[in-house]
Amino acid sequence: MKKVNSAKYTCLEVFARQTADGGRVRVLTRKADGSRETLEKPAGANYFAWLKIPLREDTEYEISSEDCEVSLCYLSGGAHPLETGVRYLEKDQADGSFYIVDQTAWYDGPTRETYHFSPWKNWINDPNGLCWFQGYYHMFYQFNPHEQQWSNMYWGHAVSRDLVHWTHLPVVLAPQEEILENQEKVKGGAFSGCAVASDDEVVFYLTRHKGPLQDGEETVEQQWMMQSRDMIRFSEETCVIGQPPQEASFDFRDPKVLRIKERWYMVLGSAIAGQGAILLYESADKKRWEYVCPLVREGKEKIRCFECPDFMELDGKYMVIGAWMEHYDECGRYQMSRYYTGTFKDGEFTVENDGWFDFGSNCYAMQSFEHQGRRISIGWISDFYEEHVPCENGAYGSMTIPRELHIKDGKLYMTPVQEIRALKGKTLYEGKGENIRLPKIEGNAYRAGIRFSENTFFSILLGADGEKSISLVNGEGGLYIVTKGVKSEGVCFKADVEEVRDLEIYVDRRVAEVYVNGGEAAGTKVFYNSSTDGCFALDAETPEHVAWVEVACMKSIWH
Ligand code: FRU
Repeated sequence: MKKVNSAKYTCLEVFARQTADGGRVRVLTRKADGSRETLEKPAGANYFAWLKIPLREDTEYEISSEDCEVSLCYLSGGAHPLETGVRYLEKDQADGSFYIVDQTAWYDGPTRETYHFSPWKNWINDPNGLCWFQGYYHMFYQFNPHEQQWSNMYWGHAVSRDLVHWTHLPVVLAPQEEILENQEKVKGGAFSGCAVASDDEVVFYLTRHKGPLQDGEETVEQQWMMQSRDMIRFSEETCVIGQPPQEASFDFRDPKVLRIKERWYMVLGSAIAGQGAILLYESADKKRWEYVCPLVREGKEKIRCFECPDFMELDGKYMVIGAWMEHYDECGRYQMSRYYTGTFKDGEFTVENDGWFDFGSNCYAMQSFEHQGRRISIGWISDFYEEHVPCENGAYGSMTIPRELHIKDGKLYMTPVQEIRALKGKTLYEGKGENIRLPKIEGNAYRAGIRFSENTFFSILLGADGEKSISLVNGEGGLYIVTKGVKSEGVCFKADVEEVRDLEIYVDRRVAEVYVNGGEAAGTKVFYNSSTDGCFALDAETPEHVAWVEVACMKSIWH
């Protein structure tokens, strides 16, 4: 039996489901006098029960499970949980005991990002509750800890001091018990939401969803609120908005709260009369909310609703952003997010300009927050073309590099936060005026910075795996991400820019994130590689216009 030393941790958290009657998790320790002390907890009969077993610090334990399936298991608690985070345990297939896993090795696989945040394992979607509080950036996220697909939703949690390195924390919220108990008939859970941080408290708003397996009129989405003072213990949730306004559809979710002057506002994603709509609520005390009016109604057809709306004041303008659910745009891209910039007066938002949030369409449900004058946004790296390759103990989904947002001439600009530069490692190439071929990049985690003295046609290979490839192409029709040999082949991932002068490209195993012209456009696309080696090749029609190129390795954040 492998032994686990609890070190500074005081709790073992296990998600366990019976595979036979009596299935349970067992924790055994030997006392000084040689006697054994055993603690057992029964696994859930038909769903993963979330077991919490108290541990003593600095004690050796033998942890095992019998007749049950364990989806996630970690040590938690202790005196400084935001610093020590959690330690994940995995089951040794040979003897059935649990052991502490080395994080660096765990995160090192061909389809595992090394410097984009992803969970320890299984499914992740939207970032939730982003905020800075008492020295830490907090990221909560939509999480299914049990498997690599969406299901009833939990909230996962991680913290960072620098927006780059993240420490995993315990799961925060679980689906309602009545949903877990009736999973064949109903679905739901703790859906997306936001955080409002003040000096000594964080207030969270989220949607609780409960409804039939197929969404419809019986679906109930309500807005709930909870608080925390230490980001480890969270209050009971209270319902603050029990039903949608009469004109809105049952899609009624993803609260985002902000303060403008003396008032608090909440935006919610919904639809009105078959059109995607973002609803505006108002409050004086953050608890009692009144419906004001739709903030944005999108005239484009075939948008089921807006999801995960955001609303902010930025660079003297106001900006609304929302994700278009179930919509295909004219390029064949699925579920794009749109931003709208304009003015906001007397509760009315007037759109002056709009555009796509991310031209790669593998970035969804972005959420932003403000810290020390910076507006920072993180998006979920989604897989709308179903290109995911499941691997044992893998994760499905990750987060974009945190981006700093700006508005210039009514247009959204996004650049990776400058903190990401700390990850820059060995330089692989630096030069100009020539085409470049780096056929084997060990680790497949790199950053390429490129400047052109004039707009020139080019093709940049960012990944290749047998017949499959991903490239960034600038040609007659403009700038595109082009995929070949994969399910998204043929979809046109076009950036809305007139010319290309500057590129910042981040490749990280199964993700490519591209920033154009100092943030004028950003595009995120997944591309699965069967190897941990990557490649980079620049073919410019007029190499003399290649003013500067630097390709450098990026370090893993999981060391
Ligand atoms: C967007 C979304 C949200 C919802 C959550 C559920 O990806 O569908 O609208 O709150 O995911 O996981």
